[in-house]
Amino acid sequence: AGPALAMIFVAGYLIGSIPFGLLVTRVFGLGDVRKIGSGNIGTTNVLRTGSKKAAALTLLLDGGKGAVAVLIAMSMYGMLAAQVAALGAFLGHLYPVWLRFKGGKGVATFLGVILALHWPAGLLACATWLVTAFVLRMSSLAALVAAALVPVWLWVTAAEPVIWLAVCLGALIFIKHSANIARIISRTEPKIGKS
Ligand code: G3P
Repeated sequence: AGPALAMIFVAGYLIGSIPFGLLVTRVFGLGDVRKIGSGNIGTTNVLRTGSKKAAALTLLLDGGKGAVAVLIAMSMYGMLAAQVAALGAFLGHLYPVWLRFKGGKGVATFLGVILALHWPAGLLACATWLVTAFVLRMSSLAALVAAALVPVWLWVTAAEPVIWLAVCLGALIFIKHSANIARIISRTEPKIGKS
């Protein structure tokens, strides 16, 4: 099973490493998203180009690539393979070889893999992001709250085997948001819609 799981990890990584935020903004003629706002290639920063369409597409594709990687592995090889694919896709998004390992912060891909691994917890995670973002108007803080609560949502929806993975991915989301966390603490993190 070892070599097969390694192949699934690599396939997941390659799917996850497609930098959709970068590709979408280029196709839309919005320039290099890495040169604006936070410099991140994710949905929130794509929104700072002013194009809601490009942001929505980035969210859909970055989330979708995670979900697709998990669903293919799950349908072919079962739940362990699905978790390995999830890990691969998530790490691919965070550390894509094509961008010299400087990728995104993983929020959309995280939501995509959780939705595909266990949709009830995935829906709760999306709801957590939406409610927090609506109330506190900060994308990064909404992501951190959602990432921190996913292990709880997996537990209450009886998906204990996936909790270890969610804890690892959530920890990486926190690490990737260290600059955001510093700005949240110093009250300089930009509010959604206010660049
Ligand atoms: O999904 C990333 C988001 O949580 C923060 O993005 O561009 O504000 O650092 P950004």
